[in-house]
Amino acid sequence: MVCLASTANAQTGEKEMNAFISQLMNRMTLEEKIGQLNLPGSGDITTGQAQSSNVAGNIKAGLVGGLFNIKGVEKIREVQRIAVEESRLKIPLLFGMDVIHGYETVFPIPLGLSCTWDMTAIEQSARIAAKEASADGICWTFSPMVDIARDPRWGRISEGSGEDPYLGGQIAKAMVRGYQGVGEKAFTSNEQIMACVKHYALYGAAEAGRDYNTVDMSRNRMFNEYLYPYQAAVEAGVGSVMASFNEVDGVPATANRWLLDDVLRKQWGFGGFVVTDYTGINEMVDHGIGDLQTVSARALKAGIDMDMVGEGFLSTLKKSLSEGHITEAVIDQACRRILEAKYKLGLFQDPYKYCSLERAKKEVYTAENRAIARKIASESFVLLKNDNRQLPLQRKGTIAVVGPLANTGTNMPGTWSVATDLERPQTLLAGLQTVAGKQTKILYAKGSNLTNDADLEKRATMFNRSLGRDNRTNEELLNEALQIARQADVIVAALGESSEFSGESSSRSEIGIPDVQQQLLQALMATGKPVVLVLFTGRPLTLTWENEHVPAILNVWFGGSEAALAIGDVLFGDVNPSGKLTTSFPRNVGQIPLYYNHKNTGRPLPEGQWFQKFRSNYLDVGNDPLYPFGYGLSYTTFAYSDIQISSNTLPENGTLTAAVTVSNTGKTAGAEVVQLYIRDKVGSITRPVKELKGFEKIFLKAGESKKVQFAITPETLKFYDYDLNYVCEPGEFELMIGGNSAQVKSVVFTLK
Ligand code: NOJ
Repeated sequence: MVCLASTANAQTGEKEMNAFISQLMNRMTLEEKIGQLNLPGSGDITTGQAQSSNVAGNIKAGLVGGLFNIKGVEKIREVQRIAVEESRLKIPLLFGMDVIHGYETVFPIPLGLSCTWDMTAIEQSARIAAKEASADGICWTFSPMVDIARDPRWGRISEGSGEDPYLGGQIAKAMVRGYQGVGEKAFTSNEQIMACVKHYALYGAAEAGRDYNTVDMSRNRMFNEYLYPYQAAVEAGVGSVMASFNEVDGVPATANRWLLDDVLRKQWGFGGFVVTDYTGINEMVDHGIGDLQTVSARALKAGIDMDMVGEGFLSTLKKSLSEGHITEAVIDQACRRILEAKYKLGLFQDPYKYCSLERAKKEVYTAENRAIARKIASESFVLLKNDNRQLPLQRKGTIAVVGPLANTGTNMPGTWSVATDLERPQTLLAGLQTVAGKQTKILYAKGSNLTNDADLEKRATMFNRSLGRDNRTNEELLNEALQIARQADVIVAALGESSEFSGESSSRSEIGIPDVQQQLLQALMATGKPVVLVLFTGRPLTLTWENEHVPAILNVWFGGSEAALAIGDVLFGDVNPSGKLTTSFPRNVGQIPLYYNHKNTGRPLPEGQWFQKFRSNYLDVGNDPLYPFGYGLSYTTFAYSDIQISSNTLPENGTLTAAVTVSNTGKTAGAEVVQLYIRDKVGSITRPVKELKGFEKIFLKAGESKKVQFAITPETLKFYDYDLNYVCEPGEFELMIGGNSAQVKSVVFTLK
């Protein structure tokens, strides 16, 4: 098939690309240029009907730049054929999808993935997601989501990497590398797809954790605490950016010129295109800044290039141009950026680059990919508590598996796993049976519904992930569970949230384990049998009672396609847990927002005290979290030596090294995440009590020791000052190294 640009090459230089696009744009009508800015959903397209659908009509008329939410290589191939054979200029389409934590092979939800602190594994998960998605026709993913979140009421905390900007930035880079490839090598193969960093910006700071709510933040906090992960994605070469729904400084991000142009393009040098989040343009009518025509023009002028779903651009830009509200130059600029993305992906050279029927058959949901997903899932689990070495379980005797999350496969992948077949993942029950082997007897009872409130349960089991509400009474369900519990040597309680309890539009005001499940847990504890809580959740939960009473708690998030087996691997000790929290677990909702890298205030608490009158604290609860950032147990123990520092002073342009020796003091091999924190003790503005500045995940055999070394340069110490200059200031710094943010060794050094 010959398309207009068969001579264009994804690998040719910028000059050739610019010349090619200029030539093409010279032939485009105004309508066709605006058409490139339009990204509808796939609407009524189904296999075999592509021709007669409404969207197809628009594609033929040159009014569509890309499509999203269309799955299946045959369908995509057919739609691409319509674009490159039946539209006047034969411009290929982009095909986008929310490939967030895997395609058909699903990895843990991003919050879980971040708890691996394993950049190689995270990059690999993105690479496999890209490989599978690209084999099935997709060339563009709406990922990574890098919004810093400090409020676990916000359901979308599950989609990001937690509360730390430095770690979030490293993960953002790893994901972009995984999806796109690196530097010159990006997009050179048909296994690499374009990433889209989102939601730019500050979406995770929605007031009160209520989704889509207002954000209001000082520029200082933006630059020092929230913006870095987006910038890191740009540094890694991300091809596109998605604007967020929220307002920033009184102007919705979608029309915020300062955000999209001054910061993103001019300050950070972003050269790709910006897409709205869904109907972000139309929603500005409700934000109250104008009618559809006004807000569409504002979005374009602010730096939005592509309009997802809402068709504000399609329906109003021509009029705005004729009335003089916008110039043709801004339309041209946006159109050029979309065409550049297509060019870079290699679509002009081969519009079917991502449409191989062969690859789709062979490369999706392979045994190899699933084996990797199982391994990564087991790395993402966080052992929150393990008194008396309750875990690992032994492969013998009788285990009672109880709880509403024990016998559901559809909930395993977690939120935003739109491409997978939800019927495939094994239930925890089946997974445990497989991993435990024949010597272990496994009994099962549901024990309770997800919650007493059937309506809430319905709202929290959308997208066909029903837990199947049981019509028996609470008492009947409980009695059945207690009856099998009494026969068991140990009880595994699979409790927590269903997968749609978190994610988009799933904020909660109370974040405990839901009512009826707590009652079940209490009754199981009252049997006197050992209980292991296997906690499913997409957010930090308040676990004060559980922490006090339940001897072992393994937080498994939503672990993806192979979660059930991976949980078995960890419960039975084939894998030693090594996940560390990337988000603080509060003691109660009143402590929120709660994060480790907070400021000291003028009235901090004295060391070792949880309350003192006229200090910054609460009457009824301490300031510290239940489980801090960076925390997670292992089946072994690690000891840290004191810090050896190469010098007590760091000269301007110099380097200082800080080292610790970490020893595995237990009897099991295991991995440990060694974390480096720094506190700037005196600054021209107030500085956090500590900030993560480095980490290394090491593996130690039983009895083994390793020296871990960090290099610190003045660059490490930089921050944005009052005037937003990126500086480091001479003076004293405290350097801390430890296995979590609350337990560290420390030394002091001076920057000259
Ligand atoms: C809305 C969500 O906020 C965003 O994350 C997603 O990529 C788009 N919808 C497209 O599905």
